[in-house]
Amino acid sequence: MNQKIGILDSGIGGTTILKEIKKLLPKEEFIYYADNKNNPYGEKTEEEIYKIVNNIVKFLMYEKKCKMIVIACNTATTRCMKRLKEQYKEIPFVGTVPAIKVACDNNYKNTLVLATPATIDSKRTHELIKENKKAGQEITLISCDGLANAIENKNKKRINEILEKIKQKTKNKNVDSIVLGCTHYPLIKKEINEFFPNVTLLDSSLGVAKQVKRQLKKYNIENLNGTGEVEFIYSKNN
Ligand code: DGL
Repeated sequence: MNQKIGILDSGIGGTTILKEIKKLLPKEEFIYYADNKNNPYGEKTEEEIYKIVNNIVKFLMYEKKCKMIVIACNTATTRCMKRLKEQYKEIPFVGTVPAIKVACDNNYKNTLVLATPATIDSKRTHELIKENKKAGQEITLISCDGLANAIENKNKKRINEILEKIKQKTKNKNVDSIVLGCTHYPLIKKEINEFFPNVTLLDSSLGVAKQVKRQLKKYNIENLNGTGEVEFIYSKNN
């Protein structure tokens, strides 16, 4: 099926997911919607996020005729996915949540979860911990106010200040893994590693890509002969 896959995020973060999907599915075609006008999502209320995301979903489904929607944003997924899936049953949705299950399944003992305030405070994040954490494992949630926005605006000074603060806050912990619970954060893996050397960084992008592949197969809507092209749409000129 040659209709496109719609991907959305509050800016450039979702490209970390897009990259993995393209590796697995090189023939698929995409519309990447970067809602940089409304960045950051992670410091908005659930209702505000839902309203914004719902409008983009409607645009991608009804105007752009996308065959699937990928919510390449942990904030929007943890806050709105359930409601979106209930509202739109005509096409499949795939989302991304912090890789807490991956950290627990791989037996890391002391994990930091970095994410936006809205993701950290979400019911879904707390469910993920409850469902996956085993005895002897410690998971510390860190609400990274301003970090996604600093990455979006390539503000290196601000990025370093925030990472320094996180390091100070967690210096007594013997951290062995960090979950990058916002799709913007893999874009600064190098900087995070400088502050936390010898710590494994985990994100959900490969898992999301595999889920996209499974869903396309399940609904028999794969594109095996496409060009692999990506159309980028920004809500604010960039
Ligand atoms: N990239 C997004 C996420 O995964 C949202 C960042 C933001 O806009 O606050 O949470």
